[in-house]
Amino acid sequence: MISNKSIQEVINTARVDEVISDFMNLKRRGVNLIGNCPFHDEKTPSFTVSPSKNIYKCFGCGKGGDPVRFIMDHENLSFPEAIRYLANKYRIELEETVQTEEDQQARQLSDALYIINDFAAQHYRHNLFHTDEGKSVGLSYFKSQGFRENTIEEFMLGYANGEKDELTRKAIEKKYNIEYLRLTGLTTSSDNDFFRSRVMFPIHNISGKIVAFAGRTLSADKKVPKYINSPESEIYNKRKVLYGLYQAKEAIRKEDECILVEGYTDVITLHQGQIKNVVASSGTSLTPDQIKLIRRYTQNIKIIYDGDPAGIKAALRGLDLVLESDMNVRLVLLPNGEDPDSYLAKSGTEKFKAYLKDHEKDFVFFKTDLLLTETGNDPIRKSAVIKDIVQSIAKISDALKRTFYIRECAAMLKMNEEILIQETNKVIKDDIKRKKLDADRQKMEKPQDEEEWITARPRPVSEEIASDLVRNDAHQEKEIASVLINFGNKWYDENTGITVAAFILQEIEEFLDKIDIPLYRDIIMETRQLVENNLEVSEKYFTSHPSEEIRKFAVECLTTPYTYADWEKKYILLQTQKMPEENYIRQSYKAVLRFKLRKAKKIISELQEWLDSTPADERETEEYILNLKVMQEILKQRNLIAAELGTVTLV
Ligand code: CTP
Ligand code: MN
Repeated sequence: MISNKSIQEVINTARVDEVISDFMNLKRRGVNLIGNCPFHDEKTPSFTVSPSKNIYKCFGCGKGGDPVRFIMDHENLSFPEAIRYLANKYRIELEETVQTEEDQQARQLSDALYIINDFAAQHYRHNLFHTDEGKSVGLSYFKSQGFRENTIEEFMLGYANGEKDELTRKAIEKKYNIEYLRLTGLTTSSDNDFFRSRVMFPIHNISGKIVAFAGRTLSADKKVPKYINSPESEIYNKRKVLYGLYQAKEAIRKEDECILVEGYTDVITLHQGQIKNVVASSGTSLTPDQIKLIRRYTQNIKIIYDGDPAGIKAALRGLDLVLESDMNVRLVLLPNGEDPDSYLAKSGTEKFKAYLKDHEKDFVFFKTDLLLTETGNDPIRKSAVIKDIVQSIAKISDALKRTFYIRECAAMLKMNEEILIQETNKVIKDDIKRKKLDADRQKMEKPQDEEEWITARPRPVSEEIASDLVRNDAHQEKEIASVLINFGNKWYDENTGITVAAFILQEIEEFLDKIDIPLYRDIIMETRQLVENNLEVSEKYFTSHPSEEIRKFAVECLTTPYTYADWEKKYILLQTQKMPEENYIRQSYKAVLRFKLRKAKKIISELQEWLDSTPADERETEEYILNLKVMQEILKQRNLIAAELGTVTLV
């Protein structure tokens, strides 16, 4: 395990331009460097590298981050692997916390199992092409499926002959250890071969190592199971593997979408038909680990279903998990009786793609539709449907997205939006409570490895998200956070020595407990900590932040400092303006005004509500009179701010 100190050293040393130019051509443009984005196809360069900010960002596909992120994405490495890569490049000696003997043994064991699986795959491949049984049964089946030879090679397909111990015998001859053969599951406890008379599908992990096999029988005997799989082992956890991901990962990244199908043959047929961004979860519904795997490449997932409504309904249940991880989920239902395999063969690639496009449905709407057609007008069953839908919507963490779904689903369900909002809020509150309990329980446990280090600081959840679901102040808060990251350390007033960050925090002090969005609140509160401790509010602090969400946001706003503009609908004008460096003081000031105006309005409406709801005979109380005064004071302030902003304001 790499020590935290070493990780920091690597992060501080790596220069984004040096790291990236090892992989691609960069041309200078102004203070930045540009090139053709390695993460998507493009003819005119929109991939921008900023040496001064030590980040990169593609304006075409949106990918961006610091040097470590680049290596992770470009080389498909995990966080610790990327750190090792960069340490090697910069000749930094990594301080390792000791590897226990146990760790070492585990690694040796895994290596031994990989080697045996590799041997087995070669053996099965040999059978397929060079033995009578392999050719007449296995190869002719693959041919009947339309698999071409290069496809068979790419997926390393093979055939296990019918003889009871052919593989085991040959392995022993080659001096492979029988214990290890048993651990892979290839050899049974009675020293026979586990896979016999089956076509063989090796299952790869993302680095291309074979972790297991699936074998399909071609026998028509109903008592013989159609597919059998290697048992779980040191190297194979079926919940952490997706079939075809190794072959699909480049395409998934390029298409920015992952297609999920049910079976091995579906993956292979689609891949061969030039739809390469496709994987299978092999029979089970998606697990959290599999979702994490996909998320390394894309946030968009499209699931192709064949089958009956009952089966689909069961499958939908697992999908709330995907929503929770902030993925966009779309579903496509194939025509009756078709699976992806057969439908592609029948219709050809172009028609198939067009079908996907025309028939894809957003998951939440798909579910709403499906449940509604089942219930008809039965009010009791309808309320069950609402509960079910609300469970899904509540899992979406993005408040704007949630608002959108609530509105659309309210229309579909022909019900009042407010009620749906309330129901969703209830579920969110319960979820938060449950998560808090879980978090408390886990609090004392330390991160297990570096992979977790980057996500170790969880985003604090607050009940405010729930109570202010729809009417939040996201734009104004975002602008403040963005200004802090962009200009926090610059002088607001050089004479008095006050920085932009110090100025802003002083101005918004009284509203600090009124920030709606956890992400922006985290950024603002952490900036406050930095300022209070006289530390630099550096861009790097945010672009290399342990929280993925903060890192992403930092890169986003360092590269598009005018993001606040699009809600003002002036973005076209602003995008043609110069970079805001010389404008940052005015921009900071305006951001503060807009933020305060928004918060003031909110307080006013809350106060007004309170005043209005006070019965006439209680309007003499001290509290009421005090609040009246507060109201007048805030109204005055609001008008001052509004006047300065030059906007006409009527609440
Ligand atoms: N599956 C499985 N175990 C089974 C049956 C199916 O794991 N006993 C999984 C496999 O991942 C398989 C997928 O479900 O690829 C689809 O099943 P099915 O369509 O029955 O398998 P195919 O090999 O596609 O057979 P067919 O040509 O009859 O469609
Ligand atoms: Mn099938």
